[in-house]
Amino acid sequence: MLGRATGRRAVAAVAAVLLGGTLGLTACGGGDDGGGKGGGDASRVEVFSWWTGPGEADGLAAMIEEFKRRNPGTQVVNAAIAGGSGTQAQAVLASRLQNRKPPDSFQGHAGAELLDYIKAGQIEPLDSFYDENNLRSSYPQQLLQQITYQGRIYSVPVNIHRSNILWYNPRILKDAGLSGPPKTIAEFKTALKTVKDRTGKVPLSLGAQWTADHLLENVLLGVLGADAYNALWKPGADWSSPAVTAALNDFAEIMKYTTAEAASTDWQGASKAVVDGKAAFNIMGDWAYGYYVNPAPNGLGKKVDADFGYAPAPGTGGTYMWLSDSFTLPKGAPHRGGALAWLKVAASKEGQDLFNPKKGSIPARKDADRSLYKGYLEYAFNEWNKPGVKLAGSFWHGVYASKRWHTDIDTAVGLFLQGKDVGKLQSALVNAAKNNAQ
Ligand code: GAL
Repeated sequence: MLGRATGRRAVAAVAAVLLGGTLGLTACGGGDDGGGKGGGDASRVEVFSWWTGPGEADGLAAMIEEFKRRNPGTQVVNAAIAGGSGTQAQAVLASRLQNRKPPDSFQGHAGAELLDYIKAGQIEPLDSFYDENNLRSSYPQQLLQQITYQGRIYSVPVNIHRSNILWYNPRILKDAGLSGPPKTIAEFKTALKTVKDRTGKVPLSLGAQWTADHLLENVLLGVLGADAYNALWKPGADWSSPAVTAALNDFAEIMKYTTAEAASTDWQGASKAVVDGKAAFNIMGDWAYGYYVNPAPNGLGKKVDADFGYAPAPGTGGTYMWLSDSFTLPKGAPHRGGALAWLKVAASKEGQDLFNPKKGSIPARKDADRSLYKGYLEYAFNEWNKPGVKLAGSFWHGVYASKRWHTDIDTAVGLFLQGKDVGKLQSALVNAAKNNAQ
């Protein structure tokens, strides 16, 4: 369970490192402005996310069913907008928030991304909601720190995802004569070349541009290690170091083994290429697991070990690169009663145990029913709670980078994909850090 001592210690360690004190520092907040208190229109609830695609939509659907069971009088509007990692949804959300037309609740990542919404005054604190529902003790204290600003709690985390997973096709590895998944970046580069030379299959599948950002965070972690990777997100970090140059050179080399055509697909296309026997490897978060194993028509109905294997992304064994999906109460939510009822389901043990086995994540609450988490998810629980596990925050999925920093890195990666110039990529990353680290 998340609440086991090791998990808590680990989150504590990363909380201290990653947010550099920006979240969760002060003791008690000022007067209660009513944030999160009950009441308000409960005739409807509009829930905003980007979970439309195969795999991730299943988890959301399961939680919506539970909501309907508990709230038969409330109409649910699933306002999910397609685009993995929220590429389209976040733009739509930003404009809705700016125009003061918020949904009743939206998905935001714990950490720096949430801090953006808080600082912009776009979401309400939920202290009363936490007290009324006795939630403060349901979550690991240190996870709460990731969603706390100036002593006030701002969202309801539903899960912990792991971003640093290497998914692979065991048959292609066998055909290539590889004895198992690569453990280091050096082994990875050799394995990619071997697959290419011996099997003619795509060595590493990639999808839309954001999946290259996702790959970048994995290569940075794999080359630098958790401590140096974590340090990159603090003010004054040295992005111009030779170690970062080496990581970016590795990134450039690894990118040569991906296919340009794949850029038109989202993460599901890249994940599917592995189980379809078209690609040997894919580096993706564990939402891919939900997509692989959920039954058709939404999932692919595949079997772990037989149809696909998994391992920590090369060079990242022993580190859990994490992120957490969490739901918010926007200021001016038109159906505040519906929103609070939604948050109640999202915060509940039942809601999380229905959502996470399908989503491919482990619950954020401490009291999950572990027997529901099989295969990869049992491994994920064990890894998360392993004594000595190191944590790193996913920059792409909201933990370390503000939305502006995230966009600046994406722009730099986009230019790199066109020009393949490592020097330019590094300068752009140096500037992005200078302009955004706080
Ligand atoms: C992440 C999100 C996950 C999953 C993934 C792919 O940002 O936290 O829940 O949706 O994007 O779309």
